[in-house]
Amino acid sequence: MVNGKVCVVTGGGRGIGKTIVETFAANGAEAVYALDINNEALAALSGDTVHGEVVNVLDSESIRTVVEKIIHAHGRIDVLVNNAGITRDAVINKMDDDAWQAVIDVNLKGVFLMTREIGPRMMEHGTGSIVNISSVVGLDGNMGQTNYAATKAGVIAMAKTWAKEFARKGAAVRANAVAPGFINTPMLETVPEKVIEGIKAKTPLKRLGEPQEIANLVLFLSSDLASYITGQVIRCDGGLVV
Ligand SMILES: NC(=O)c1ccc[n+]([C@@H]2O[C@H](COP(=O)([O-])OP(=O)(O)OC[C@H]3O[C@@H](n4cnc5c(N)ncnc54)[C@H](O)[C@@H]3O)[C@@H](O)[C@H]2O)c1
Repeated sequence: MVNGKVCVVTGGGRGIGKTIVETFAANGAEAVYALDINNEALAALSGDTVHGEVVNVLDSESIRTVVEKIIHAHGRIDVLVNNAGITRDAVINKMDDDAWQAVIDVNLKGVFLMTREIGPRMMEHGTGSIVNISSVVGLDGNMGQTNYAATKAGVIAMAKTWAKEFARKGAAVRANAVAPGFINTPMLETVPEKVIEGIKAKTPLKRLGEPQEIANLVLFLSSDLASYITGQVIRCDGGLVV
């Protein structure tokens, strides 16, 4: 599906990002670069075509360094998955300035910095696919997630903007967003069991999603099978809001 493609996945050390890395590697990628701040998680990744790089998506210098390294080795980047993300949940009157800013920084500015470095190079090369990992929370809102909801709506708007911006001058660069429902990863460890049970109950498929189910959609959007899909947000949520 991504045969011969050079792929970059942020937050590729664990959870959904790690599964996306493994899925790209298993589906013919020439190289998959997992960028993460978690050195130990990166060290545990395996596969001849998988490369772990310690990069904070807020550090524009180290982003540039790693992008130049990848371009030097492969000549291009075909796929960028902006997956790194964090939560700092609280109802608004209890959400302090730090909790607001930390989530805005990683989830929004990190996506901006990564794409500012890679998107124009894709355009110059003439092809590419960018996938932003959003959330159903960015479409529907969620109690206690003012900061997170704002960022997840923001990355949808950015994908739509890039679908226009990077397709100029005849370039076939696509940009889409994926909106997962509630997925079984370490990110959900802070969510109370009662809340998780409530989510399952109101989901038609009566369960959480698995990282592989998100990775499958990201794989499709990153591949040439999705060559006429751009500027879209696609839900993968077990029917949560049907
Ligand atoms: N798990 C869910 O239910 C769910 C639902 C919808 C959307 N999402 C989104 O999917 C994405 C992945 O979520 P997950 O559940 O796998 O989370 P996770 O917490 O399991 O993994 C996130 C990864 O991102 C890395 N990361 C965090 N800050 C970083 C930074 N500044 N620079 C580089 N890497 C950084 C972490 O080290 C970690 O490896 C996130 O954007 C999240 O918002 C998750």
